[in-house]
Amino acid sequence: MAQITAGIACSHIPVLGFAHDQDKEGDPLFKPAFDGFRWTREWIRAEGRPDVVVLVYNDHASAFDMDIVPTFAIGCAETFPICDEGYGPRPVPEVVGHPDLAWHIAQSLILDEFDMTILNRLEVDHGLTVPLSMMYGRVDEWPVRVIPLAVNVVTYPPPSGNRCWMLGEAIARAVASFGEDLNVHVWGTGGMSHQLQGPRAGLINREWDNMFLDRLIGDTQDLRHVPHIEYLRETGSEGIEMVMWLIMRGALGRKTRCLHRHYHVPVSNTALGHLVLTPVDGTVPPSPTLEGNRAAPGH
Ligand code: DHB
Ligand code: FE
Repeated sequence: MAQITAGIACSHIPVLGFAHDQDKEGDPLFKPAFDGFRWTREWIRAEGRPDVVVLVYNDHASAFDMDIVPTFAIGCAETFPICDEGYGPRPVPEVVGHPDLAWHIAQSLILDEFDMTILNRLEVDHGLTVPLSMMYGRVDEWPVRVIPLAVNVVTYPPPSGNRCWMLGEAIARAVASFGEDLNVHVWGTGGMSHQLQGPRAGLINREWDNMFLDRLIGDTQDLRHVPHIEYLRETGSEGIEMVMWLIMRGALGRKTRCLHRHYHVPVSNTALGHLVLTPVDGTVPPSPTLEGNRAAPGH
């Protein structure tokens, strides 16, 4: 049976992708940021080693534009090429998917009444590739299969925190019903506090960010109910990317333990946050409809 064994949270700061690609991880500006990933880079190749990552991220008008804005979308393709964000594709390997598990999750989520958009062709941007580089460093091929799960946090209205948490719980139900033995991680990426434009550009809120990190650990569910306006006010216009972390948290069930925590400012316009969590009590509430829908004729 497939099992979710860990959740990782990680900002997707573009300049860290650049620093990595240009061999500048040891540069005094970037070193403190990368040092916080040393523990994870060892752990993820040893006891943490996932077969598949459900990588929750947002596209930045790279694959999508204002013509089509899916709230939640899942990548079911065999491979996901690296997109050109204006200065050529990042020199990192193509991302390899896991179509069998992705289609299974898509079916389970839709029967669980989450209206997913299915993506059979998708180029991925820094939102997905920077977290992979932070976790694995330089590689010839990624040592893990990746199922991209894209969330709209760019065009108002993004999904609520509570809806994201519930989607995480539905992902946990989906993974638990997949027959093959697979070690699955769920990653929540983006954030933390940042505003890239307007009079408050450069805003960082260490105190709020650390409160958010604190509340992803243990059994509190307070973060489900943080309204959009609080993210906007406290963490800037792009801080709303943090709702994606709640999908990861919801997938870990009732209670989590923290294996590793890293917070660093300054490195970019964005506060760098990173957590490695494991489920302690991974129980998620049953779906009121999933089993009945699975049992329906034709399934
Ligand atoms: C930065 C952060 C982001 O989340 C992003 O998508 C683009 C830029 C930044 O820190 O500059
Ligand atoms: Fe972003």
